Amino acid sequence: MVTSAMNHYCKSSIGRKQLIAVTGLLLCGFLVGHLTGNFLLLVGPDAFNIYAHKLASLGAVLYLIEAGLAALFLGHLGLAIKLNMENMKAKGKYQQKTRTGRGTTIASQTMPITGLVLFIFLILHLCSIKFGSHYETTVDGVLMRDLYRTTLEYFRSTGATAWYVFAMICAAVHTSHGFASAFQTMGWNHGKYFKNVKRLGLIYAILVGGGFAFISIWCHMKGV
Ligand code: HEM
Repeated sequence: MVTSAMNHYCKSSIGRKQLIAVTGLLLCGFLVGHLTGNFLLLVGPDAFNIYAHKLASLGAVLYLIEAGLAALFLGHLGLAIKLNMENMKAKGKYQQKTRTGRGTTIASQTMPITGLVLFIFLILHLCSIKFGSHYETTVDGVLMRDLYRTTLEYFRSTGATAWYVFAMICAAVHTSHGFASAFQTMGWNHGKYFKNVKRLGLIYAILVGGGFAFISIWCHMKGV
C-alpha cells in the first residue's frame, strides 16, 4: 500500500519535481560544507590534511555519507533528465515553440546544459583529486594522505584552473535559478517572502560559485 503510493508519487510529474527540488536543496547544503572545508587550503597544508584525515577516519560513517551523496546526485540527475524529456515530448505534441518571455531567464533555459557541465565536472573532479595521485605526509607524528599536494599539483595547469572557473560559473548560473525554483515547487513561495528567497538564491550562487572559483585561482597562483 505504502510502496504503491510511493511509486505513484515518484511517477507523477509533481512528485518528480518535488524530489528534484529536495535533492537539489540538499546538494546546495553539501556545497556549503565542501566549500568551507576547502577554505582550509588557504590556512596551510597541515590544517587541510588534518581535516581530510579526520573525514577519512570516519570509516563506515563516511561510506554512508558518500552513498547518500551519490544517491542525491544520481537521483537529481536521473529525475531531471526524465522530466526534461517529458517536457520536450509535450512541447512537440502541442507544437509549442520555446519563447523567452515572462518568467524565463537565461539561467532557467540553460538548466540542462549547466547541469550536464556539472555532471562532467564531478566525474573529472573525483578522478583527478579524490582518486588522484596519492602522496603521504606526517603531521604531529600521524601518517596521513597529503591531499593538499594532490590538489595544488592539479591546479598547476592553467587549463585545469580555467575549466574549474568555467564550471563554477555554470554552478552559479544553475543554482541561481534552481534555489528559488525549488522553493516555488515546494509551494514555499508566499508573497513578499519569495522575493527574499530569490535574493538569497542569487547571493548563494555568487558566494558558492565565486568561492570555489577563488580557491581554484588561489591554488593555481600558490603553486607547489
Ligand atoms: C575549488 C574547487 C574544489 C576543490 C579544491 C575541491 C576539493 C576536493 C577534495 C580535496 C576532495 C577529496 C576529499 C577527500 O577525499 O577527503 C573532494 C571531493 C569531492 N568533491 Fe570537491 N572540490 C572542489 C569543488 C567541488 C564542487 C563544485 C563539487 C560539486 C559540484 C565537488 C564535489 C565533490 C564531491 C562529491 C567529492 C567526494 C566527497 C567524498 O567522497 O567524501 N567539489 N573535493
